[in-house]
Amino acid sequence: MKPHFQKKISIPVRNHLTRDNYVLKRIDEVEPTEDRRKQITSICNEGKVYSWLFRDIFENKPYTEDKAKEFFEIGAKGWSENRMFIFLLLSSTGEVAAAIDIKSSDLDNAEIGYWASESHRGCMTNTTTELLGLARDAGYRKLLGRTKKGNKDSANVLLRAGFQFDAADSKNSEEHDFYRVDLQKNGNANKTLESMGTSSAGPDRVS
Ligand SMILES: CC(C)(COP(=O)(O)OP(=O)(O)OC[C@H]1O[C@@H](n2cnc3c(N)ncnc32)[C@H](O)[C@@H]1OP(=O)(O)O)[C@@H](O)C(=O)NCCC(=O)NCCS
Repeated sequence: MKPHFQKKISIPVRNHLTRDNYVLKRIDEVEPTEDRRKQITSICNEGKVYSWLFRDIFENKPYTEDKAKEFFEIGAKGWSENRMFIFLLLSSTGEVAAAIDIKSSDLDNAEIGYWASESHRGCMTNTTTELLGLARDAGYRKLLGRTKKGNKDSANVLLRAGFQFDAADSKNSEEHDFYRVDLQKNGNANKTLESMGTSSAGPDRVS
């Protein structure tokens, strides 16, 4: 069985800290404009995003606009081959604020990943919660989150979104911690975080 996502996905997401509204879209349904390539380039060179995700693989060289172009191309290919599913989070003015992906079509063990601009801090937990709902509707049963040890921001996103720490796998790895969510049991997919008592500033779902 392969995942089946709808086309024309457009999911409202609220920033927990600022209450600003965003929209989550498939990357193959977002116009890859020069402005958006520049926004992605800029975010991927920001301190936290660059140091956790790109410094090692790019050997200290900056994330270039060509990489952002490639990101759109790889994203479109992943969707067309039903193999890898990248989404972009856009601000109300259409700027790229964050990205989140499901890295494979394995319905029981696909890994998710994400980055978000520091200027939009507060959007990723709610984006992840929406992704879990989308993934469950597409046929995923379980998902994996893998953080580099010490990446507390990312671990907190996963925990707030309903993932559970996998102590055994984490103990066996020097580099990564592992988190898993069972979407058929207790994932936070499509629950309001407020209803789970984790929200302090009003409802996080945009109806
Ligand atoms: C990890 C990362 C995506 C987090 O993005 P973010 O938008 O800041 O994350 P959140 O949505 O969780 O927002 C963080 C803050 O909002 C609060 N928050 C957000 N949503 C919330 C919710 N629904 N309920 C309660 N609190 C919430 C958190 O408590 C947190 O506040 P605090 O730092 O004062 O405790 C971002 O820091 C990043 O891109 N890091 C570098 C790349 C990376 O590490 N990627 C993951 C690789 S595994």
